[in-house]
Amino acid sequence: MIVPQLDLGSEYEQLRAAIDAAVQRVLASGNFIGGAENDALERELAAYIGVAEVVCVNSGTDALLLSLKALGIGAGDEVIVPGFTFFATAEAVCLTGAQPRFADCSAQHYNIDVDSVRQALTPQTKAIIAVHLFGEPVDLAPLQQFCESHGLWLIEDAAQAIGAQYCGRSVGSFGVTGAFSFYPTKNLGAYGDGGAITCNDPALAKRLRSLGNHGRQNRYQHTEIGCNSRLDEIQAAILRVKLPYLDEWNARRRQLATLYQEALRGTACGWPVATKGSISVYHQFVVTHPRRNELQIFLAECDIATAVFYPIPCHLQPAFSVSHAGVSLPLAERLADQVLALPIFPALPVEKVAHIAKMIRVFEQRFPIDVEYLPV
Ligand SMILES: Cc1ncc(COP(=O)(O)O)c(C=O)c1O
Repeated sequence: MIVPQLDLGSEYEQLRAAIDAAVQRVLASGNFIGGAENDALERELAAYIGVAEVVCVNSGTDALLLSLKALGIGAGDEVIVPGFTFFATAEAVCLTGAQPRFADCSAQHYNIDVDSVRQALTPQTKAIIAVHLFGEPVDLAPLQQFCESHGLWLIEDAAQAIGAQYCGRSVGSFGVTGAFSFYPTKNLGAYGDGGAITCNDPALAKRLRSLGNHGRQNRYQHTEIGCNSRLDEIQAAILRVKLPYLDEWNARRRQLATLYQEALRGTACGWPVATKGSISVYHQFVVTHPRRNELQIFLAECDIATAVFYPIPCHLQPAFSVSHAGVSLPLAERLADQVLALPIFPALPVEKVAHIAKMIRVFEQRFPIDVEYLPV
């Protein structure tokens, strides 16, 4: 039984006719950058996420970068980010000229830990980026409180979490901005790069739009240095076909995650536990295992593909080894050593979840966990 980590082909098969028609519609229109598809997608995303404004951009990385720039963050400033996230979160901070300060994560939900945030605060801190990692919402209430009491911006990195909810509202609607990615493997994926910024302030949205379009005010006037960060019409049209299916796909991911959790109970696997009031969208179903590397090899030999997100936390990446030498984040480092993403995608048959869990049990029988082990 071969199990891929992800299967984008079956999603295309499900929607082939509608996607092909959407692409043809754009090709026939002769309008490829900025137009009806982008305008409609922005409206549809705003309604879906529950915000006043959505600005489509070229990637999730640009969504973060433009958010920071639009808030005036740059050289001399610091932004607190989790050490355990995709590199782009910290990279976007550096691209503004500011510096990231890395915070550790929580053992419960693997997201940024508010006590560690407190320790990372300096007089230079201007913002916190809360990353809803693996589709699991950050416990936002204490972070919002912290930001309010210290005059900091809260930016949500919701690249992996479109559709996730916290206290009855969609993630991306809590921060001053929310950054989304439409990278093809995301829960709502384009067929190329793409991203979006959410916010509730029309003036901020106007600035974001201008920054992503060469700092333009109108066709010939550029009032500041921006960049080229636009979502093309073909990607917007494809995303519009997929968006109505997102809730159904996310519900299926939750069903698969529940099956994994039931089937893996009693093994050495740990997994993130949701905070009260949050609904995950399981962009990844990640377990921790004390013999992660051997388990991954064993599963590969059983034709089960898995992935490690992320084997090196940001603060230990070579790019930060000089600027952030000596930073220690014990939980982020432990997670990096132990996490393993098991296959999860809407078309994954439930029998395969049972099969994967069975093979993990077989692994544990063959290679017993010899030290007393508590999951992270
Ligand atoms: C947490 C996180 N932030 C930011 C990004 C950047 O998004 P993009 O690849 O669209 O630039 C990603 C993409 O994987 C991500 O997972």
